[in-house]
Amino acid sequence: MSNTQEIKRRRTFAIISHPDAGKTTLTEKFLLFGGAIQTAGAVKSNKIKKSATSDFMEIERQRGISVSTSVMSFEYNDLLINLLDTPGHKDFAEDTYRTLTAVDSVILVIDCVKGVEEQTEKLMSVCRMRDTPVIVFINKMDREGQNPFDLLDEVEQKLNIKVHPLSWPIGIGSRFKGVYSLYHKELHLFRGGLTTVTDEVITISNLNDPQLDREVDESYAVQLREDAELIQGVYGELQLKDYLGGSVAPVFFGSAVNNFGVKELLDTFCEIAPEPGQRETDHGTVTPTDRDFSGFVFKIHANLDPRHRDRIAFLRVCSGKFERNKYFHHVRLDKDVRFSTPATFMASSRNIVDEAYPGDVIGLYDTGTFKIGDTLSEGKNFYFTGIPSFSPEIFKELVNNDPMKTKQLEKGIQQLTDEGVAQLFTHSFGNRKIIGTVGELQFEVIQYRLLHEYGAAASFKPLPVFKACWMTAEDKAALEQFVRLKAANVATDKDGHYVYLAESNWMLNTMMENNPKIQFHFNSEFKKRKIQPAH
Ligand code: G4P
Repeated sequence: MSNTQEIKRRRTFAIISHPDAGKTTLTEKFLLFGGAIQTAGAVKSNKIKKSATSDFMEIERQRGISVSTSVMSFEYNDLLINLLDTPGHKDFAEDTYRTLTAVDSVILVIDCVKGVEEQTEKLMSVCRMRDTPVIVFINKMDREGQNPFDLLDEVEQKLNIKVHPLSWPIGIGSRFKGVYSLYHKELHLFRGGLTTVTDEVITISNLNDPQLDREVDESYAVQLREDAELIQGVYGELQLKDYLGGSVAPVFFGSAVNNFGVKELLDTFCEIAPEPGQRETDHGTVTPTDRDFSGFVFKIHANLDPRHRDRIAFLRVCSGKFERNKYFHHVRLDKDVRFSTPATFMASSRNIVDEAYPGDVIGLYDTGTFKIGDTLSEGKNFYFTGIPSFSPEIFKELVNNDPMKTKQLEKGIQQLTDEGVAQLFTHSFGNRKIIGTVGELQFEVIQYRLLHEYGAAASFKPLPVFKACWMTAEDKAALEQFVRLKAANVATDKDGHYVYLAESNWMLNTMMENNPKIQFHFNSEFKKRKIQPAH
């Protein structure tokens, strides 16, 4: 098969949801359809249960599971589908944000009872940054959920994206009769038994067909006709380019646990989802069909077993062809490297791959040479952009409890933050180290790992910081003056960029108003404009 054919048959995506909406269940059904697993229950949820906050063996076990499910590949309808897993626990949301930089599209699962939840909003805002195409799956239609029109309104308003229903539910909860596929003009009947549910498909190309009244009660048929007319009037026909451009999200309804509406979702996904796309770099656009290999690291997974300090760096192939044992250029280190055991992972088995194509994700064994965002290329020097960091939500000062182990602590904290476990800022005053995370759990993970992997005893002192904003200015003198005057609230990130540590939203707004010459950035995307660090 030629490179172009290999690229054309790949679809790389992630399923995202607020915890409990049904991501794991849907993933498992997809894998069953793809023949990648044979039995239900083979994919374990990577949720870290609340009770596990101080149970590190549990965290380790969970992290072990998520390595094996980091990327799940399966063949379906002549396509090679790479499904990237995203952590379920909100404290690992940064990991999810970065995974979203490595996909070409997303399926968003929403629980019809709970509607759009907090985590969903955050994840979607990341997708919107890159105009990632999104398909919405409204799940749990067998439960007494909200009215579907209200749900669509909520999605549009809270997620800031237009929607376009491609299927429509007939009844809901105990009165759920099935869905009508507005896209394929088919009726999918939900025939539930005590133990099995069948998805009976009947082609009804015209909703006025009296067969509809025979298949579902007349009152349901009348309602469906009314709804369908309304939908046609409001939404018209789906323009594929709007979906591919990320401005319109097709919507499906179903019940993942009952495997209902899932096949239609997968089939339509295969029909419309984008193949591997272009990526931006600081030296222009990289196209998958470019001859030379390139890719970037979006996730680093540490082995928590202290006897094995190796890590796995996950790399998304963006162009050309990756080959085992071939030398590629590690741009940041300006060094050529090769890999003898590049791997793919699937349901706890690891396979060595000889070659990989754009859209693929491979795991590279790493002894500390990679950092999130690193580029591998075939000789050329450039960086992929668009792998942002966001402002952390919790900030604590790192306290060294064992001065004899200062070096170990320094090394440990540098490496852990390279992995993206947390962000490290250095305070202008006295070189104090500030760790920023999106969840409390990370502090426990960091403390545990510093002690067990590096032998360094550390603790954390909470700081009254609300948000960290990166700062840039055309007028360098204005920035330096601000840094001098506000030194108590200024730190630098690992790349040497100035960061303002705001104590409250009010303070932040006041600073922004009073300092119009300074730009405050809420994520690190500004770095792609090649602004020089402060130091
Ligand atoms: P997540 O990965 O998004 O966190 O969600 P997950 O798939 O683990 O699903 C969360 C719960 O919702 C599970 O129940 C799952 O069985 C249930 N669920 C998923 N899809 C549907 C659906 O279509 N209808 C209904 N009624 N429930 C659904 P659980 O009790 O937490 O776990 P389990 O014991 O069933 O595994």
